[in-house]
Amino acid sequence: MAERPRIIIGNWKMYKTHPEAESYLSTLIPLVKDAPGQVCLAVPFTLIYMAAQQAIGTSIAIGAQTMNDASEGAFTGEIAARMLTEAGATFVILGHSERRRFFGETDAIVQRKVQQALQNNLRPVVCVGETLAEREAGKTEEVLHRQLSESLAGFTAEQAQQLWIAYEPVWAIGTGETATTACAEEVHRNIRTWLTNHWNAETAEIIPLLYGGSVKPDNAAALLEPQDIDGLLVGGASLSPQLFANIVNAPVNSPVTHPSSIGNPS
Ligand code: PGA
Repeated sequence: MAERPRIIIGNWKMYKTHPEAESYLSTLIPLVKDAPGQVCLAVPFTLIYMAAQQAIGTSIAIGAQTMNDASEGAFTGEIAARMLTEAGATFVILGHSERRRFFGETDAIVQRKVQQALQNNLRPVVCVGETLAEREAGKTEEVLHRQLSESLAGFTAEQAQQLWIAYEPVWAIGTGETATTACAEEVHRNIRTWLTNHWNAETAEIIPLLYGGSVKPDNAAALLEPQDIDGLLVGGASLSPQLFANIVNAPVNSPVTHPSSIGNPS
């Protein structure tokens, strides 16, 4: 069985100015220098270059929270994959539920963005997750399988092995309502099976599956315990370097690997 790296991503969303980010990183860097796995921060576009510079020589990878699905063009206000890599981003979050809900990001758009990211050596972190109404209607599996099959349509197993996937139940994001470890574990196992059926067992074993939704220092260790939960995507609690470091350093209950250059798809 593949040993997947433990990955903790902080998603700053639309928070932090340049001086705030600088002081955050100065605090965080020494706190996570012995982190058991990969530490990642998805920061606003304006902070990518500065954060990537400050993170040189540390184990922290810097990424973006979205990007456009075209390589370049007359798309006022948008940003292209190669602009992100040029600024120092090594990964990009795609299909986050806030992008789907507030900015009309569909699975077809996510699919094109994944394609752009892979072409530009930017690791795609593809988010999927059901709403409360969908869960209550017993449609969790149906929704997740649709999101996966449409947003990951047409990729080879080799391409799929560059992906990270985040399961973020919409009802758990920013609500303080965390999925129980058992509930998250069940969904992660289901996603792993879907990956096996869609590509093959080897590919399914390689792709890290992250959980996101109201992750805090006091629930991080339990959420990381199941074999199929390889990491966490943290919103609110990643805004404080101390809280984020506590999540990053949550006790390790299963073997982890220490990736040297996990930030970049190879
Ligand atoms: P939260 O956000 O940790 O504040 O719930 C998670 C996310 O949106 O990625």
